[in-house]
Amino acid sequence: MSLQRRNVDLTGLNTLALPSRAACYVEITTPPQLFAGELKQAPRFVLGDGSNLVLTSDFDGLVVHMAIAGRQLLSEDTDAWYIRAGAGENWHDFVQWTLGQGWPGLENLSLIPGRVGAAPIQNIGAYGLEVGECVHSLNAWDFEKRCFLTVDRKDCRFGYRDSLFKQEGWHLSGRMAIASVLFRLPKRWRPKTRYTDVTQELAAREITSPTPRDIASAIIAIRQRKLPDPAVTPNAGSFFHNPVVDRSIAEKLGSDYPSLPRYPQPDGQVKLAAGWLIEQAGWKGKSLGPVGMFEKQALVLVNHGGGTGADVLRTMAAVRAAVHEKFGVALTPEPIFL
Ligand code: EPU
Repeated sequence: MSLQRRNVDLTGLNTLALPSRAACYVEITTPPQLFAGELKQAPRFVLGDGSNLVLTSDFDGLVVHMAIAGRQLLSEDTDAWYIRAGAGENWHDFVQWTLGQGWPGLENLSLIPGRVGAAPIQNIGAYGLEVGECVHSLNAWDFEKRCFLTVDRKDCRFGYRDSLFKQEGWHLSGRMAIASVLFRLPKRWRPKTRYTDVTQELAAREITSPTPRDIASAIIAIRQRKLPDPAVTPNAGSFFHNPVVDRSIAEKLGSDYPSLPRYPQPDGQVKLAAGWLIEQAGWKGKSLGPVGMFEKQALVLVNHGGGTGADVLRTMAAVRAAVHEKFGVALTPEPIFL
């Protein structure tokens, strides 16, 4: 029996709440369902929670919605716990579950929207931690070769909001679907609290020796204060990457704008705060039609209601133009455009 449905509304399946319909749609809840020959159909798009996605029009292809559940401690040795989670697990629930089990390490990534299977694709990161640091390996289904493959962390080529899956274009072509992720969480835990927001939040709570749960709780509070809840105000998190520029450009900008946040990178380049650039370019809390930049965090693009993919593209272009005109810096969008 075919699991596919036709002409499916995707509006509730993307956190920007953009209207779009998929010609075909299938929900995958168990790995064997991936063997179905009909899933070879192209074009194909692999969907999680749609929390990093801009739907620009209807999709005349097959949407494969990954909903494989399951989470378990696979093994442990003297150094680490090895925990496997299905691609369809909710990311935040998974993180809180690991903390509840006494396996710390992912607490800095609390409250990030999305599912486990999507986390390695753009190497989600926040408050001084990127998920790639905690991935041991992952299991992905290759729709063309029709087999599962295991990809070790070193082969995932993790970078800032980047991985093998993006570099090879598989996130757009629907070639691969991550079915499960194996995490390695070291038993020697050290708090990652150097990020200013986290330091300040813990100080305000008078916590000097934070537990993993203290850090999760602080980060949840910070995110709730700064970032819009997609269930209330549709958004896709940070809409642009923080741009990385040559040191000479950063120095010139820094002398013109001393308050510009600059983060030197190990390779000598400098990461700039896109939120700051957008705010200074006059876009914090500003909208073009129904789509604008959030009033408390200018890096987050929000749909105030009724916005479409075309509205998102219009606002995105206006923001990029304003930042480029004022600072000469090109912003790269973070979400996937379908
Ligand atoms: N800033 C402004 N105005 C703004 C927003 C930010 O001046 O409207 C300044 C802040 O004052 C700060 C700097 O820019 O000095 C950085 O801001 P923030 O700490 O809020 O972090 P971010 O660089 O804007 C990044 C990630 C977030 C992640 C936070 C915390 C990217 C693209 N975004 O944001 O990730 O949660 O750091 O680590 O790297 C996401 O990817 O969806 C996301 C939310």
